[in-house]
Amino acid sequence: MQIEIDGLTKAYDGTQALAPAQLTVPSGVLMALLGPSGSGKTTLLRLIAGLETPSAGRLFFDGAEATGLSVQARRSGFVFQNYALFRHMNVARNVGYGLAARPRRDRPSRAEIAARVDSLLTLVRLDGFAERFPDQLSGGQRQRVAFARALAIEPRLLLLDEPFGALDAAVRRELRTGLRRIHDETGLTTIFVTHDQQEAMEVADQVAVMSTGRIEQVGRPEDLRNHPRTPFVRSFLAAG
Ligand SMILES: Nc1ncnc2c1ncn2[C@@H]1O[C@H](COP(=O)(O)OP(=O)(O)OP(=O)(O)O)[C@@H](O)[C@H]1O
Ligand SMILES: [Mg+2]
Repeated sequence: MQIEIDGLTKAYDGTQALAPAQLTVPSGVLMALLGPSGSGKTTLLRLIAGLETPSAGRLFFDGAEATGLSVQARRSGFVFQNYALFRHMNVARNVGYGLAARPRRDRPSRAEIAARVDSLLTLVRLDGFAERFPDQLSGGQRQRVAFARALAIEPRLLLLDEPFGALDAAVRRELRTGLRRIHDETGLTTIFVTHDQQEAMEVADQVAVMSTGRIEQVGRPEDLRNHPRTPFVRSFLAAG
């Protein structure tokens, strides 16, 4: 699904968290939002998810206006900065939660949910972990459960906010590769937020560099490296 952002803006009484943003994420692309703390990455992601209301601007999914759609109607799978698994539920119930919580008429049968959970656990390489509880998992395993949970509802797009934030370097690298593989297997249009330049450059098809609520430049990693268009992009990439 193609995502088009046309002038989306967010102000919180006086502070402009996001200046009018123009961005197109072509269908099937893995895009990184890269920028320092406070640059508006989470704000933009939450506007796309429908968790924030824009002060101005419009959003389109495959050409159809999505600005006023509810979170549910947007059908995005998301993993947020401080993702939380349900501690009292085992892995299988965590992953199947979004399906089991649907109103009866839309809810798949118990067997269908179990089959979907199984295939998602295989996708994130957690076969055999269905019965474990979150506190019996490593940080990286928990993060993969959060991925699987986001994918369970058959989302139209995937939104990830610093999905590897709290993890150590080795686990981050492993999950990075996992994200790329899962993206390629599902073909889902995916936007992930990171302040880690190397992570963005290694994993993403396209990177949008943000600074103080503005999208400074969008391009393929090699284009940004070879042709930084603003002083900020040049110095930010040089510093990383
Ligand atoms: N609910 C809010 N009320 C007021 N200001 C906010 C609110 N949420 C975010 N902001 C402000 O908007 C700006 C952008 O915040 P945002 O969370 O989008 O940044 P970010 O790029 O995700 O940063 P980080 O890397 O630290 O997560 C910041 O200056 C922040 O203080
Ligand atoms: Mg953030």
